[in-house]
Amino acid sequence: MNSQATSLLVTLLAMSAMAVSVLTSGCNGNGTQSISATAPMDKQTASPAQAEKSMPKAIKVTFKKVADPKEPPLAPLGPPSIPTDNPMSEAKVELGKRLFFDARLGGDASTSCANCHDPDQGWSFAEEISRGYPGTMHWRSSQTVINSAYYDKLFAAGSTPSLESQAPSAAKGGVAGNGEDDLMEARLRLIPDYVKRFQAAFGEPWPTINNAWKAIAAFERTLVQRDTPLDKYLLGDKSALSEQQVRGKALFEGKADCIACHNGAFATNQKYYNIGVPRSTRWAEDGLAQITFRFEYYAKGATEELYRTAKDDAGLYFRNKNKWSKGKFRVPSLRYAKYTAPYMRQGQFYTLEEVIDFYDRGGFDVEGNTTSYPDTKTPLIKKLNLTDTEKEDLLAFVEAFSGDEITIQKPKLSDYAPLFTLAELEAVQAAK
Ligand code: HEC
Ligand code: HEC
Repeated sequence: MNSQATSLLVTLLAMSAMAVSVLTSGCNGNGTQSISATAPMDKQTASPAQAEKSMPKAIKVTFKKVADPKEPPLAPLGPPSIPTDNPMSEAKVELGKRLFFDARLGGDASTSCANCHDPDQGWSFAEEISRGYPGTMHWRSSQTVINSAYYDKLFAAGSTPSLESQAPSAAKGGVAGNGEDDLMEARLRLIPDYVKRFQAAFGEPWPTINNAWKAIAAFERTLVQRDTPLDKYLLGDKSALSEQQVRGKALFEGKADCIACHNGAFATNQKYYNIGVPRSTRWAEDGLAQITFRFEYYAKGATEELYRTAKDDAGLYFRNKNKWSKGKFRVPSLRYAKYTAPYMRQGQFYTLEEVIDFYDRGGFDVEGNTTSYPDTKTPLIKKLNLTDTEKEDLLAFVEAFSGDEITIQKPKLSDYAPLFTLAELEAVQAAK
């Protein structure tokens, strides 16, 4: 029992040595607890230890589970933190926005960040597995970049620690941007508009590729949503949620226990679990998908045997090679999810209704399929027995994590120009 619950109990027992029903923040989750002790309390000021010793025999105390005290409650989202080595400025954010939409940051100048994180597709890509660099496809679903500033670690298995280090891995990765540092940098230096903008943003004479990643990261830190119906509600505007959504909130925090993992202001504890999502069928059906799947296994240092036999994404396992990490993935935020279908790391579900049905069945899809790694499936996912109305209420509440769609005027990008005109070069020659 936690100390808060203990002292509440002490007070109540002191008032009357009768069976009491205590509404408090959690205990061991199963709701009831029997305590036996020797004598009723006589002093309200007794320490919890004394209280423990002097409690009456066989008092049955019923705890109504609200939420585990270790689980931070849902809360309004604050601003994202800004790293000290990449402060924000208007010039930098504007530059980063242009670079985000500029396909010249990539191999054959065909694929920008925005091609896979399209503002019209929830700043993600609306197919179960993302498109890839031309001639390839990706192996995971493209996540939205909205609110990515709040994650400690990026990607479904948390393999990248910051937006600054994520951007180059995206622009250079073989199935994403496939770019090469020196070539991309040379391109930036031949675009006079960028030369000026990099100078304004970083105070250095020429664009460098590292500053390009910093500018993109700064732009991404402006892609946040903090004015959702849920934020408004939690800040005191009780009309911001409908009655149905308020019922859904109670389910989220109670019977459906989504709060066990989707908690705190960002609606995720940012931990890793195997919740039972079955493997993508795409790898069996689609040659290009199969190639990328094998390529990723090799690139992530899997053994030769796994490379040949694996049929599913092992998730966190790639990071620590611990067999108990197989099939575990980062808990994603539920913010902005209304716009980012399909869902899960390979887009296994097309709609939020399907996701809720999956949880209701205890982590099984409509055909009864579950994870390829049953040994690591978390006991936190179990059959929920929700009624149809409860499912609708829960769905309505999940939508309250999203505000209006975030749209943007796509920037008009400037052209290349030589560093020097012919006349300037001739003038230099003549002066020699
Ligand atoms: C060819 C498609 C493609 C391109 C191009 C691409 N991405 Fe992504 N992006 C993805 C996919 C797919 C994921 C999910 C990968 C994973 O989970 O392993 C992702 C994940 C991310 C994430 C992590 C979000 C999270 O929730 O952790 C960020 C941030 C991001 N991309 C930003 C960028 C930026 C910036 C660029 C351009 C420099 C870019 N991406 C280019 C497909 C792409
Ligand atoms: C044990 C922790 C846990 C619990 C409890 C949990 N989730 Fe999740 N949730 C996850 C993980 C992990 C993923 C990502 C799985 C993957 O990509 O394979 C996820 C994914 C999701 C997604 C998809 C988000 C996206 O962008 O793809 C939604 C929606 C969601 N959960 C809603 C819920 C709801 C509603 C509940 C309650 C019924 C719930 N979750 C309970 C861990 C949990």
